[in-house]
Amino acid sequence: MCGIVGYIGPREATPVLLKGLHRLEYRGYDSAGVALVAPTGELNVYKCKGKVSDLERFLDGKDTAGTIGIAHTRWATHGVPNDVNAHPHCSESNRIALIHNGIIENFRLLKDALVENGYTFRSSTDSEVLVNLIEYIRTSNDCSLLEAVQQALKQVVGAYAIAIIEKDNPDRIIAARQSSPMVVGIGKGEYFLSSDAASIVEYTKEFVYVNDGEIAVIERDKPLKVVTLDNHKSRIDIKKLELSISQLEKGGYPHFMLKEIYEQPDTIVDCIRGRINEETLEVKLSGVIDNREKFLKARRIIFVACGTSWHAALIGEHLIESICRIPVEVEYASEFRYRNPIIYPDDIVIAVSQSGETADTLAAVELARKAGAFVFGISNVVGSSIARATDSGTYIHVGPEIGVASTKAFTGQVTVMAMLALTVARERGTISKEYHDEVARALIQLPDTLREVLKVGPQVESLAKIFTYAHHFIYLGRGENYPTALEGALKLKEISYIHAEGYPAAEMKHGPIALIDDEMPTVVIATPDHTYEKTASNIEEIKARGGRIVAVIAADDELVRRSADYTIEVPVITECLMPIVASLPLQLLAYYIAVYKGRNVDQPRNLAKSVTVE
Ligand code: F6R
Repeated sequence: MCGIVGYIGPREATPVLLKGLHRLEYRGYDSAGVALVAPTGELNVYKCKGKVSDLERFLDGKDTAGTIGIAHTRWATHGVPNDVNAHPHCSESNRIALIHNGIIENFRLLKDALVENGYTFRSSTDSEVLVNLIEYIRTSNDCSLLEAVQQALKQVVGAYAIAIIEKDNPDRIIAARQSSPMVVGIGKGEYFLSSDAASIVEYTKEFVYVNDGEIAVIERDKPLKVVTLDNHKSRIDIKKLELSISQLEKGGYPHFMLKEIYEQPDTIVDCIRGRINEETLEVKLSGVIDNREKFLKARRIIFVACGTSWHAALIGEHLIESICRIPVEVEYASEFRYRNPIIYPDDIVIAVSQSGETADTLAAVELARKAGAFVFGISNVVGSSIARATDSGTYIHVGPEIGVASTKAFTGQVTVMAMLALTVARERGTISKEYHDEVARALIQLPDTLREVLKVGPQVESLAKIFTYAHHFIYLGRGENYPTALEGALKLKEISYIHAEGYPAAEMKHGPIALIDDEMPTVVIATPDHTYEKTASNIEEIKARGGRIVAVIAADDELVRRSADYTIEVPVITECLMPIVASLPLQLLAYYIAVYKGRNVDQPRNLAKSVTVE
């Protein structure tokens, strides 16, 4: 999705802005640009279609001087990706430059009114409408830029994070937010601005998160001021963020995705740190303990999430229903928010989101809060919108996930859900001590287990070479490994562009079996569990129809090994945690197939890391 960077201070702005844009590249984008107020007083705007490196080439030999600037990576919504639609956009007089993340839903209406007032437009974007609306209000009302921004934003319906600079004022950036992230980094005598704190973390660890309906007035050598659209002053709440630069770099791996797959033993250590007592095996998630009564009395748990986080929630459903005996529903946030769902005040709504910024999940949180439910967040990004909008919650603590395809966040989410289930089940008395301790022990040993699993890397790499020909894949699993199959298929399709479907293994006979032939491989999660024999029979059915099978199995499995064409052996741990184990070879398979197909693994086409528009 789009990214914003801004700088004001004593340094030359361009290097800071370009570095920030590079750090935002992982989010997916199709054009980039910068605007600077030069020492000569010129407002210089440079932008082009393509990558940040294309912008860097374009800047060669241009006047990029200036100690104030804003920069943007655009992920097209209104208007094709091209030079003209790239941000920044200038007002008609070329005195104001604006960058915008999000969507202005009523832009047509606003544009028509501006056209009637003589405005013409260079681009097809909604963002250019906003910058002209600001200019129109400013000139017709003869007001300050801040007042014009306040009035303009009151007319806007939609989501935005914007940053604005002005030709006539080299000492001020104005930034505002509604349903799209925006953070101000506080340096010594300088300010940084970003839609993602990670892009500016090398300059400062102190951040002010701009809230919905707020405008940050960032002025050179002055204290930061934050006001509402009605000009009420907001309190400045500085938060510290501990992130190291090494977490944002590839560390010798060819892609972030591979680094993040191999990081999982360590990220699980971080995820469970301080939450499981290794001696007593007591599991404590403080967000749950602090809200003990809510979890004790919960009538129902509703998970809301999108994509991979939704798959993790499906595994959470198995964990919570079987261990805590609380009914669970899992909803696509995008459907839930528009469905007029029944939400009881004693429901707990759990929003699951790696980024904590997904627009639909955030909207589902707001809906649930309005309905009076207790809303709990499971997110990765500290200080994210979902983390702040929920009543309570827990972080998965797996560190920044840069690869667009979610890997370590998925396993972190499932790990947190297992700890949540154990904490709640103990409080509710729905779990035996033996079983509780078995799962807790397996969680403590999980990092070592995953280290063992990752030894399949070279074998999966060779396997991947065999399957680059395939145009379609089917993934099958049962029980908690049905979501693992869905997740395996999603990983493959999003980074290799091979069509892949996940199904519950038994459901295959109700239609998908018609697709089976020797050209469509089937990946089956066939690790030992209470439906193992049934899965083994499904494998025979595929075999009988000429299908080629890749099976994820236990080392001592002889039955499935005989029927499958290829097997990947994984260690076996307690059944409810097997999705974590089984998902790693599937991540590796997707990764290597995509690499062999020459895909851009970390930034697959059309995809964005955090989906901040609907
Ligand atoms: C897939 C993937 C997406 C995200 C989805 C939700 O690999 O990353 O499907 O899971 O966009 O994002 P978050 O978890 O940030 O809400």
